[in-house]
Amino acid sequence: FARLRGVVALDGPSGTGKSTVSRKLASALGATYLDTGAMYRAVTLAVLRADVEPSDPAEVVRVVRAARLTVGTNPEHPTVFLEGTDVGREIRGPEVTSAVSAVSAVAEVREQLVAQQRELIDEALVAPGGIVVEGRDIGTVVVPDAGLKVYLTASAHARAQRRTAQDVSEGRAGDLDRTHADVRRRDALDSGRKVAPLRRAEDALELDTTDLGVVEVLEQLHKHVESRGLLV
Ligand code: DC
Repeated sequence: FARLRGVVALDGPSGTGKSTVSRKLASALGATYLDTGAMYRAVTLAVLRADVEPSDPAEVVRVVRAARLTVGTNPEHPTVFLEGTDVGREIRGPEVTSAVSAVSAVAEVREQLVAQQRELIDEALVAPGGIVVEGRDIGTVVVPDAGLKVYLTASAHARAQRRTAQDVSEGRAGDLDRTHADVRRRDALDSGRKVAPLRRAEDALELDTTDLGVVEVLEQLHKHVESRGLLV
């Protein structure tokens, strides 16, 4: 079967179905998968555990510099470990979700995590099969020469609905109004920050997923991967 070569960059705000389609695309193409949002979430957890204010950049940098983050890139079973402990569940909770935009707006935090992301990507590219990387700044900052860049969008309402359904299915309380407000707040913070704001790379393909199911999005992505000669 055909395998991916090189990097597919998937960016966009939360609730566009990015994680689901990134993982499925990676699995289908024999590729690895890197969830950069999970890395920002894990260092945010480190900040909260250290009892540091997320709005205090100097203290945030001190904690993040010392944090030991280990990331697994298997799309069937992606993992994030902080100080050797699996934090995959805890980083999806409301405390981390509320604080992550402040932590990810700090330039030194981004420098450190982007360096680690590039190392993970280089490691993955040594083995056969490429890598699907999802985040906010993959096409603009982390891998500007990715073979395919995709920017996923969807209406704020559709994104809030998906996030709520995901919360419920993973055993957390679902609250559509609160989630809608949170989606909008994080959009504004992530797009408005000075360092590496969320934006579409000029050469990224934009895909609006408001009315598309996962299967349809995957079909589109396959088509573009193929037409760019990224299959071997
Ligand atoms: O994709 P996510 O919701 O798990 O991401 C959590 C936060 O991390 C998001 O609000 C913005 C930040 N983030 C970032 O700044 N850059 C990335 N490449 C990925 C995530």
